[in-house]
Amino acid sequence: LVLRPVEQADADGLHELWSSAGVRRFLWDDQIVSLDRTREAIEQSRSLFASVRHGLWGAWSLSDNRLAGFGGLWPFREPELELLYGVAEPLWGRGYAGEMARAVIGYCFDTLALPVIRASTDVANAASVRVLEKLGFRFVTRVASAGLDTVFYELQPPLLCEPAEYERELP
Ligand SMILES: CC(C)(COP(=O)(O)OP(=O)(O)OC[C@H]1O[C@@H](n2cnc3c(N)ncnc32)[C@H](O)[C@@H]1OP(=O)(O)O)[C@@H](O)C(=O)NCCC(=O)NCCS
Repeated sequence: LVLRPVEQADADGLHELWSSAGVRRFLWDDQIVSLDRTREAIEQSRSLFASVRHGLWGAWSLSDNRLAGFGGLWPFREPELELLYGVAEPLWGRGYAGEMARAVIGYCFDTLALPVIRASTDVANAASVRVLEKLGFRFVTRVASAGLDTVFYELQPPLLCEPAEYERELP
């Protein structure tokens, strides 16, 4: 996959992806979002990139140049940012969500030095729960959010050495 920030030129492809039954079920609570709403989201992502250097990336497969998925950090529960991802249904089960999420997480920790990345998902979204667990996210809590049984997770950057070892090195 090749990732780059989504642009207005990607609106039709993203709209098609977000409208597909498998993707919209958990992502948009099964609602079909309008093309205008998709364009607004792209504009919001562009503003985020301009101000905080992250937003939504589209992911294109190298073999056919089609939009395979998207991922990034999104203010789902403003102002909190959460990791978000989705993959075109015919491409599920190939590890693409994990691949995209690892790229986003690596950038957010290594380049932006974010102290933590949060994520949440409907309990019923077993594939998404599995993706987060495979990425090493730590379970935080399970609560009803907007009437939906939701699990919350967080991930912190890996320590380069044990804290005790680091403290011993300090003058
Ligand atoms: C969630 C989603 C992004 C996963 O994409 P993907 O590319 O298939 O994910 P990956 O291949 O990286 O990993 C999926 C894992 O979930 C597992 N999985 C898939 N369906 C599952 C199910 N019903 N129950 C349990 N595990 C499941 C897969 O076996 C795989 O784990 P494994 O590698 O141990 O076998 C994809 O299903 C999707 O786009 N869903 C709609 C959008 C969405 O819900 N996004 C998350 C909103 S927070």
